[in-house]
Formats: sequence, structure tokens, C-alpha cells
Amino acid sequence: MERKEFLSLVGISVGAVILQQCLSGCKSDGGDPSPNSGGNNGNSNGNSGGGSNTTTGLTGNASLASGKIDFTLDLTSTTYKDLKTEGKALIVGDVIVAKTKDGAYIAVAKKCTHQGTTVDFESNNNRFNCSNHGSNFDLNGQVINGPATSPLTQYNAAFDATKNTLKVS
Ligand code: FES
Repeated sequence: MERKEFLSLVGISVGAVILQQCLSGCKSDGGDPSPNSGGNNGNSNGNSGGGSNTTTGLTGNASLASGKIDFTLDLTSTTYKDLKTEGKALIVGDVIVAKTKDGAYIAVAKKCTHQGTTVDFESNNNRFNCSNHGSNFDLNGQVINGPATSPLTQYNAAFDATKNTLKVS
């Protein structure tokens, strides 16, 4: 083997060794960032818990536009639990439902018969008041003073102590 041939052979071998070490070194020194790629999967269940269809505590119809007023309130629900307190009132659809200071349940149409303003329940005066022009109605919806001349429609309000429900019809 001539000197030139020998050096050429050694050069190729050294080059091959260097290339091999570089390739293997590149693999191991690359730092592999992939394990962090899945870090945000904790949000995937954000809306999967349901609950958007929770019951409001009302069954039946509280809208005059939908026909006859006939509904039942669950007084254990957060929406209607105030009606267990004397002197409190709530608007339910087209109806104002109240529990008087004496503990009686009453329900009348919420719209003043004068010009349609929603009336307020005044528990201390045992009446419904329209703040618009000052009409007052008694607990049965009858006019105490005008300008309204027609009574508020009165509904039957029946409390079921066993079920803790109030049926208005
Ligand atoms: S709208 Fe109620 S008194 Fe006029």
C-alpha cells in the first residue's frame, strides 16, 4: 500500500467515525421538548358538567299570552323561597304572588288596570300600589282608589305544606 493510498483510507475512516458520532450526538443532545406539549388538557371538561338546564321551580303556565294562568311553584327552590316569608312578593310571569303579614298566600294580575304598569305589593298596608298614577288595590285586587276603575284579576293561591308548593290558578 502506498503512502497516498494509506492516508486516503485513514481519512475516509476518520471522517466516517466523526460523522457517526455527530449523528448520534445530535440525537441525544437534541433536548426533546415534546413532553410539555400536553400541558393544557385541563380545560377540556369546562362545560361538561351540565347544570344549564336546572329547574327554576316553576311548572305550568304563568303567561296570559300562553293561555290560562295555572302554575305551581316549588318554594324550596332558590327562585321562590322568598315566598315563605311573610310580607314578601314576587312577580311570576304575568302574576304577582305574595305572602301577607298574616301568612296568607294571594295572587293577582301584575298589570294595573289603568295603563298596565306593574303593581307593587305593600305588605304594611295590605294592598297593591301602582306607582304610575297612584291606584291602590286591596288583597283581592279590588280598587281602593283610582284612577283605575277595574279590579286586578285575582287568582287562587293554594299552599301545600306537605310538598312545600304553591299552586296558582
Ligand atoms: S297605570 Fe296604574 S294608576 Fe295609571
